[in-house]
This record gives sequence, structure tokens and C-alpha cells, in this order.
Amino acid sequence: MTTTTVMLTADQIQKRIRGLAAEIEQDYGAGEEIHLVGVLKGGFMFMADLVRSMSTRVTLDFMAVSSYGKETTSSGQVRVLKDLDSNVEGRHVIIVEDIVDTGLTLHYLQDLLKARAPRSFRTACLLSKPSRRKVNVAVEYTGFTIEDKFVVGYGLDYAEKYRNLPYIAVLGDS
Ligand code: IMP
Ligand code: MG
Repeated sequence: MTTTTVMLTADQIQKRIRGLAAEIEQDYGAGEEIHLVGVLKGGFMFMADLVRSMSTRVTLDFMAVSSYGKETTSSGQVRVLKDLDSNVEGRHVIIVEDIVDTGLTLHYLQDLLKARAPRSFRTACLLSKPSRRKVNVAVEYTGFTIEDKFVVGYGLDYAEKYRNLPYIAVLGDS
């Protein structure tokens, strides 16, 4: 049977996201509009809580990229399933991702968006597994650094399941 063990509680996540929102707001000038680009599907919950903690001017867009499917290892192949609705040229863009693991997905997305001439470009990830990195990617805002465990919940899935959990858990067999 598949079991889940809580790694980060809903309270811990909410508290950290409020901290991240404060950091972000401090880093941009008052009155600057920040354009947040959420990466679907994993980043949807992080995005929803992050924007609710921000009181600056914010606009949102989403991209959908192919994920692991039922596998738990990265192929390095990234497929854009849904591109942005609006142009990012001249805007302060922050990409909002659930997790940076090998870094391959983020590396691809960063190159793609930077090529569209945003005014500034930064990255926010709720989770980071630095021990798994295959490519160096810049992440200005990291929620939590975690060890090399496959995690689910709070947007993250295994075979499309567990995304609805309000906490982050480690998936294991028992
Ligand atoms: P990458 O290896 O950095 O390219 O990660 C690609 C994507 O794999 C992430 O955006 C997640 O959607 C997914 N992923 C990576 N690690 C995990 C995990 O521990 N649980 C669930 N999804 C993960
Ligand atoms: Mg993702």
C-alpha cells in the first residue's frame, strides 16, 4: 500500500509563503507591477497562496508544460502544452514553479521567457532538491530546500494524484 508521511505541514507552508511574498515586495519598487507566470499544473496552489499574500500590483498568467507523467525521473524533454496568453515584453516577470529537481524544466522555461525581453526576470520555487541538480538554474526565491525524496501534495502529484493535499508529504510503499 502507498503511504504518505508529512514533510511540511500546511501551517509551515503558509508561513513560509507569507515570508516569500514579503521578500518579493521588498525587492521591487513601490508601484511596480509584477507579472507572475505560474507553471501548471504543479504550481497552481503555490501561485494561489503567493498572490493572496501580496498587496502590490500583480498580474497573472499560466503556462502548462509536460511533466513526468507516471514516471518519477526527468527525461529532460519539455513540451509546452499551453503557452502564455499575453506578451511579457517590458514586464517584471517572476516564474512560479512548484519544485526544482534536476533543473531541466526550469532551465528550458527560463530561456524561453528571457528570450521574450521581459524588463526583469526572476524565479520563485516552493521547493528545491539541490542534490538532484543536473543544470545550474538561478532561483531567487526558494520556499524550502529538501532532501532527495519524491514528494506529493500542495500541487505536486504522483500520476496526477495527491495534488489536493494542503501539505507536502513523502510518498513511500509499506
Ligand atoms: P526537473 O527535474 O527540475 O525538470 O523537474 C520537473 C518537474 O518534475 C517539476 O516541475 C515537478 O512538476 C516534477 N517533480 C520533480 N520532483 C518532484 C517530486 O518530488 N514530486 C512531484 N513532482 C516532482
Ligand atoms: Mg512543475
